[in-house]
Amino acid sequence: AGASLNAGAHFELLGRSKLIETTSSWIDWSESQLEQEKNALRERLIGASESGKVTMVEWNNAWQKFTRSRDVYLTLDAIEQTGNHATYHSVDVMDQSALQELGSSLGRPITGLVHGAGLEDSKLVADKGYEVFDRVVRVKVDGWRALLSAVVASGREVPEFACCFTSVAGRFGNGGQTDYAAANSVLDAEMARLTATTDCRAVAIGWTGWRDVGMATRGSIEAVFEAAGIETLAVQDGVSIFVAEALQGGKRRVLGCGSLGQMDTFSSFREAPLKLPPQMAATIADPSRFPFVDKVLSLDEGVRLMTQTTLSTEDHPFLLDHAIEGVPYHPGVMALEMFAQTSLLLQPTACLAGFEEVSFGLPVKLIKGPMTVRVEAVVERTKDDMMWVRCRLISDLANSKGEVFGEREHHEALVRLVEKREDLRPFLHREVEALPSIGTPPVGSLLHPASFIYDRYFHGPRFQSHGGVLGGVGDADQPGIDGLALMRHQLPATDQFALEQHGESVLLEALPMLIEAGFQNAGLVAMEVLGYSSLPVGIAWSTMLRVPEAEEALRLRSLQTEALDDGTTVHDVLVVGEDDAPVLALKGLRLKAMANVDEDQRFALER
Ligand SMILES: NC(=O)c1ccc[n+]([C@@H]2O[C@H](COP(=O)([O-])OP(=O)(O)OC[C@H]3O[C@@H](n4cnc5c(N)ncnc54)[C@H](OP(=O)(O)O)[C@@H]3O)[C@@H](O)[C@H]2O)c1
Repeated sequence: AGASLNAGAHFELLGRSKLIETTSSWIDWSESQLEQEKNALRERLIGASESGKVTMVEWNNAWQKFTRSRDVYLTLDAIEQTGNHATYHSVDVMDQSALQELGSSLGRPITGLVHGAGLEDSKLVADKGYEVFDRVVRVKVDGWRALLSAVVASGREVPEFACCFTSVAGRFGNGGQTDYAAANSVLDAEMARLTATTDCRAVAIGWTGWRDVGMATRGSIEAVFEAAGIETLAVQDGVSIFVAEALQGGKRRVLGCGSLGQMDTFSSFREAPLKLPPQMAATIADPSRFPFVDKVLSLDEGVRLMTQTTLSTEDHPFLLDHAIEGVPYHPGVMALEMFAQTSLLLQPTACLAGFEEVSFGLPVKLIKGPMTVRVEAVVERTKDDMMWVRCRLISDLANSKGEVFGEREHHEALVRLVEKREDLRPFLHREVEALPSIGTPPVGSLLHPASFIYDRYFHGPRFQSHGGVLGGVGDADQPGIDGLALMRHQLPATDQFALEQHGESVLLEALPMLIEAGFQNAGLVAMEVLGYSSLPVGIAWSTMLRVPEAEEALRLRSLQTEALDDGTTVHDVLVVGEDDAPVLALKGLRLKAMANVDEDQRFALER
């Protein structure tokens, strides 16, 4: 509540303890006032007892009812002071029907759940009664179920946020705590399930022992911790951990602990995961949203972002159809897509306008199986509604033992972003002005089918985005070709990502297959005119004006504007849809000659 001042949020606090109304006026009492009251209670107990005696245990137990009640009033008061609201309900969390009743009586949906009820009674299983085992497990597991049923009764399927307080014992195991470890482990898994299968952002925080409050301060637990080298956690640090997890999100199972001493037999500690802003955490939690972002490695919000992806033919079957002599090459257009995804994650209020200064360098080859690559995105400049983000695709250089000794840069580009606005017309106007003036490919019938192209190219069905040749255009100085361009769902095989093989849809940002169609079309021109097969090495500028309709038939034109002595050719490309409306354009696409085309594959188009 303190981290969300004056939010007007409602906190419903649950516990079995009953409120004793008189204690509501005790919240400002000093220690000596409490002491006095405690002594007065003793007198009353003695007066009421037949034997005229009362034991210390009886006295303390009776007093505890008052202090617990006062503690609840203190908590309610502290929450109210933050500009939020709090109500206490005396209920057993395992009582499902009582919780359902509570949920439906609130008159508003429960949007967050924090399950902190727990019992701990350490004893070897052989010495433990069934009752104890049962209660330790049920307060956590049945308690959680009942809490969820309260949410449903309040009018929601699942809460927006959920947190279970679990334990390092659930993650590492601990002597005498089989029941407790199992119950916590169930809740750990449950938080992961909720996040993976629902809209709820759920986290299990596995705590070490807390210092000063709670169950770990009872009996000899603190001494046992110390002997085992297990560091305890100050309450304030625990609160900070909880608040960060609740408000920022990140991993689904976290540990709130210091050194775990003997408990951590396998020294399993890794670097703490990065805390991401909730919107970013939620975006990348959806595997179909930014499929090329497996992980965020570092973030300086609004300035710089480093993401990581592991490319594999299992997860990215398109690689199988972009293979040269059996070696999958990560296509340049998918590198551009990665740049777009990382830039948009860095700048979620923008949309993609296009690219500039694209340079394709060392290809990413999957010679020995999966390959992990990183994208670094750094905001380079902004002007009015536009932003330019410099992106690099990098991988590690490793020796034969797998030791990393440096990094390798593959490709680089400036991603052009435009702020999302109601009225994008001024932006679109500027983009249309900047389109290459190469005319519009006319509607017509195919001169050569797609097979004409793929007899000459290495691309498999998931990368065959050229739909066939309409005809030659231009002149000897500026030769060109018109053709058909296919979107991802129009390809001969559409399962570019493994997710798509399981019926999921994957959203890409940069229309990579249309850029690819541009590359392939320009490549055909170079092939026809120079007799070389060539590969793209750069793009001076590109724009993406709109996402075409699903059924739209797209045409494209490319004109070769220059042929340099070193075998480089330069091309402009335009993709249009129905009504000749422009979709995408490339200016200054540079292709580099790689190999001679076999004589029997040479061709010449009429112009
Ligand atoms: N303290 C630690 O060192 C530590 C370490 C690891 C994990 N944890 C976990 O953190 C959570 C809180 O621990 P804690 O130390 O604060 O425990 P605690 O001092 O025993 O407090 C437990 C809280 O849960 C409530 N509760 C217990 N059983 C309940 C039931 N059946 N129905 C409704 N409320 C119930 C209790 O209120 P009433 O008594 O009024 O019912 C009390 O407010 C537990 O889940 C525990 O497993 C704690």
